[in-house]
Amino acid sequence: MVQLAESSYAFAIAAAVTFLWIPGVYAGNTTCASNQLDWYTSVVGETPCDTYQRLRRICNPDYEVPNFRPDTPGDQCDDQVSACCCNTVAFQLSMLCMNCQYDTVDGDISSGIDAGVGTYSLYQGKCGAGTDNSLPADVQRATCNENIRLDDFLYGGWDDGSWFYIFTKQNASKDHAANNNDTFTHCPDQDSSSSSSSSSTPTALHTGGGTDGVETTVSINPSDKSAPTAGKDSSSDTGNDKRSSNTGAIVGGCLGAVAGFLLLGGLFMFWRARRNR
Ligand SMILES: *[C@@H]1O[C@H](CO)[C@@H](O)[C@H](O)[C@H]1NC(C)=O
Ligand SMILES: *[C@@H]1O[C@H](CO)[C@@H](O)[C@H](O)[C@H]1NC(C)=O
Ligand SMILES: *[C@@H]1O[C@H](CO)[C@@H](O)[C@H](O)[C@H]1NC(C)=O
Repeated sequence: MVQLAESSYAFAIAAAVTFLWIPGVYAGNTTCASNQLDWYTSVVGETPCDTYQRLRRICNPDYEVPNFRPDTPGDQCDDQVSACCCNTVAFQLSMLCMNCQYDTVDGDISSGIDAGVGTYSLYQGKCGAGTDNSLPADVQRATCNENIRLDDFLYGGWDDGSWFYIFTKQNASKDHAANNNDTFTHCPDQDSSSSSSSSSTPTALHTGGGTDGVETTVSINPSDKSAPTAGKDSSSDTGNDKRSSNTGAIVGGCLGAVAGFLLLGGLFMFWRARRNR
């Protein structure tokens, strides 16, 4: 009896340790681990993870920045309406957010996390062709309506799907200096003051709003490489499995509860066995 109780106790402990620690299951963090991304945060007014989350919430209001995988790409464009993330702007923000989460050393000594050739395709997954160096017109309008400040350098990037932290940082710094931080020209009336009202509950697209002057702003984009293809991706993959972080959190919570009950049961049997001895 004592033997049984003790082994079940040990099992419960093992189960609890196994199930309670599931990396990547819990909601992530938009706080940067160090001051490495201050060059971005000080000009934009929020961390790149915040910007990335707000951009993706235009399409998926439930999106939360996860704890990024340690390998690039740290996150995936897997929303059923993928127009918000199936583009190089979101990919660049995801890489910046990854650096934000993983760059734990203060100061200017880190070389950052780069992405190899083809990483953008991996990030895209099954989201379709997407848009390079631009956002679909309706998503661009939505970012302006919700005052999501997308810095001009985010509309650049590399054609082979790679990405480089130091270059991006230096490119942005040059652009900030050259333009007095007035580098948010893809929306009308977005000035350099970083007093962005980071509305924490972005709503759905305001497709009706802002018909004046918005189209001209969109056409300013240096998107000579590919034309925006807005319609395609939203309908192509509605049957995808929804590998959302919410599901992960729920599963993790259930497993944690089961492990907790096992632990309590083991403790109870252990206590009873000792009392009956
Ligand atoms: C996010 O990070 C900050 C600073 O490291 C920490 O204080 C906070 O608890 C974290 N929040 C979550 C939800 O992990
Ligand atoms: C560098 O920044 C400029 C201006 O923001 C942008 O047009 C260009 O595409 C960027 N280059 C790269 C490689 O991202
Ligand atoms: C641009 O922003 C940086 C960081 O906040 C600041 O140090 C710099 O003075 C700003 N430049 C201008 C011209 O406002």
